[in-house]
Amino acid sequence: MTLSSAVDGVPIRDVDRETVGQREALLTLMDISKTYRSRKGSEDDAVLAVSDVSFTLAKGEVVALLGTSGCGKSTVLKMVAGLMRPTAGTIRLGDEEIVRPSRRIGIMFQQPTLLPWRTILDNILIQPEIRQGRRAALRHRSKAKELIALTGLSGFENALPSQLSGGMAQRAALCRMLVSEPELLLLDEPFGALDEFTREQMNVEFQRICAERDAAAIVVTHSIQEAVFLADRVLVMTPRPGKVAKSVDIDLPRPRKPEIMTGSAFNSYVAEIHSTLFDRQVHA
Ligand SMILES: Nc1ncnc2c1ncn2[C@@H]1O[C@H](COP(=O)(O)OP(=O)(O)OP(=O)(O)O)[C@@H](O)[C@H]1O
Ligand SMILES: [Mg+2]
Repeated sequence: MTLSSAVDGVPIRDVDRETVGQREALLTLMDISKTYRSRKGSEDDAVLAVSDVSFTLAKGEVVALLGTSGCGKSTVLKMVAGLMRPTAGTIRLGDEEIVRPSRRIGIMFQQPTLLPWRTILDNILIQPEIRQGRRAALRHRSKAKELIALTGLSGFENALPSQLSGGMAQRAALCRMLVSEPELLLLDEPFGALDEFTREQMNVEFQRICAERDAAAIVVTHSIQEAVFLADRVLVMTPRPGKVAKSVDIDLPRPRKPEIMTGSAFNSYVAEIHSTLFDRQVHA
């Protein structure tokens, strides 16, 4: 696989640029590895968390990352978010190498991490405010209000996070991620703390929002069902050091409704991924 390189700052578009199906890749991870080292820098306590992970993501494509606890899923996500540099390999968003957080990328962590002293509306507007200042962020207010309505939070614009249930706080965090209209959404077990029913609703909602905006997403989850429901492609990782053990294309029509989970096609994907996860080879 070859990628564009920059000579004198001019990007060169390679003819054999990585493509996903017929679509050009939005995101490309090429041979990513990450070793955590202690502050002392000693090799004895170095932890190889992720090893040689490569995959691409097209515009509008949703990929789920699935793997046992500690296999390196959050590490991959943090590197894609530009919060941490890989020890080896490169990550590109279009022609740009990701070296720092970008407004083109939105991230949602497992916990909603809303600021307790700010109202829901002000929490949602925090990123534009940090990046562009308070006055410029006002331009995002109508978008924020639209998202509040879309996620069923109308009437809570001026509430504080302590007045929201866990599911409502997650929805507010979803609005906060979406308000700057990022092209790439990164979600680390976003709905893990929610009850089954709310989680299902959030998954349906998330699917709709991605389709509406043609946003690409990487969703980290521990649930095989959730991965199959949300994704166009499921990447199954090995235990640490995390590598991609298998990539499974999910060829189910969209929009997907929760009823799809009882169907045979859905369940054969679940069975295939389950056996990959528990295959001895994956654990070797
Ligand atoms: N800051 C760090 N310093 C040292 N080791 C770390 C650090 N962060 C993660 N690790 C190690 O890297 C490995 C991968 O961690 P990571 O958080 O990416 O796993 P994960 O797949 O997200 O797990 P989980 O499903 O439990 O969230 C683990 O062995 C972890 O102990
Ligand atoms: Mg994690």
